[in-house]
Amino acid sequence: MLRRQEVHLSGAEMSKTLGISRNAVWKHIKALRREGYRIEAKPASGYRLIAVPAHPTPWEIQAGLGTKQIGKRIYTLSQASSTNEVAFGLALKGAEEGVVVLAESQIKGKGRMGRPWESPAGLNIYLSLILRPRIVPSKTPLITLMAAVACAEAIDKVTGLLPAIKWPNDLLLERKKLGGILTEADMELDRINFVVVGIGINVNMTRALFPPSIKDTATSLQEALGREISRIALIQSILRNMEQWYQRLGQGRGEEIRRRWKELSLVKGQAIEVTSLGEVVRGTALDIDEDGALLVQTDTNTIKRVVAGDVTLKGR
Ligand code: BTN
Repeated sequence: MLRRQEVHLSGAEMSKTLGISRNAVWKHIKALRREGYRIEAKPASGYRLIAVPAHPTPWEIQAGLGTKQIGKRIYTLSQASSTNEVAFGLALKGAEEGVVVLAESQIKGKGRMGRPWESPAGLNIYLSLILRPRIVPSKTPLITLMAAVACAEAIDKVTGLLPAIKWPNDLLLERKKLGGILTEADMELDRINFVVVGIGINVNMTRALFPPSIKDTATSLQEALGREISRIALIQSILRNMEQWYQRLGQGRGEEIRRRWKELSLVKGQAIEVTSLGEVVRGTALDIDEDGALLVQTDTNTIKRVVAGDVTLKGR
């Protein structure tokens, strides 16, 4: 209501429209102020919205979001151990599909293969989404591919920069890592209970903030563009894209995800080295199969199917 109103909006009017007491209206105003909204309160006139917070809040993300399920409920935390852990806990308690958990910072941000994910406060996107897909467990990797496609397209829409994807989940700009996806699932042999899709994107992080271990291999949107990017706009775009691609998956159109992923993928046809479960496979990346596994033509001319691992590009 405050967003729509240009002049002051009286407490009485809000209390009438919302069907709550004027005291309750005041409590909500105070809660919004704590979230960073600047709201003027003028005796005898009412309330006026002066400024909205720059950091993502559920209200800012949901304003104009337009999705049906993804992001209908959003939790924003100033700090989390890991948003994937928080989302996993919520899902175990029955949280519905589409719930989103965001944090301003993470103390134990998780990357793939047990690696840490650098998660300084107030700059980047750390987002986890709960899905309850009705697909067979062997197709779970498609969810990661789908998320990579949705994020790459969202980044393109908001910034004009289209990242490349490196199997299975790295988002790269000029061959440096811009973001990654960590999918964690709770499943039985024949069914998936839920999946948590964890998305980390380096948005406004500057060079000085990258620790020495990743300084030469990581980048951020700010670094590539030389200006700040609205995290709210990017989160909205990611959630919209995720909904669209997820709907296609639900309609049995997984093939379209695979096709788009391949268009954006860096590895196809390239000389690569994959480390998978302690084994090193060298060869040429041929394709991904319908379950999202990487097919590698090895130097000894056999075709290996790799379901998890790390790819190093050997060309150029
Ligand atoms: C990778 O190693 O490339 C995956 C990185 C995934 C990081 C994100 S940040 C939000 C979510 N919470 C986590 O702890 N990890 C994922």
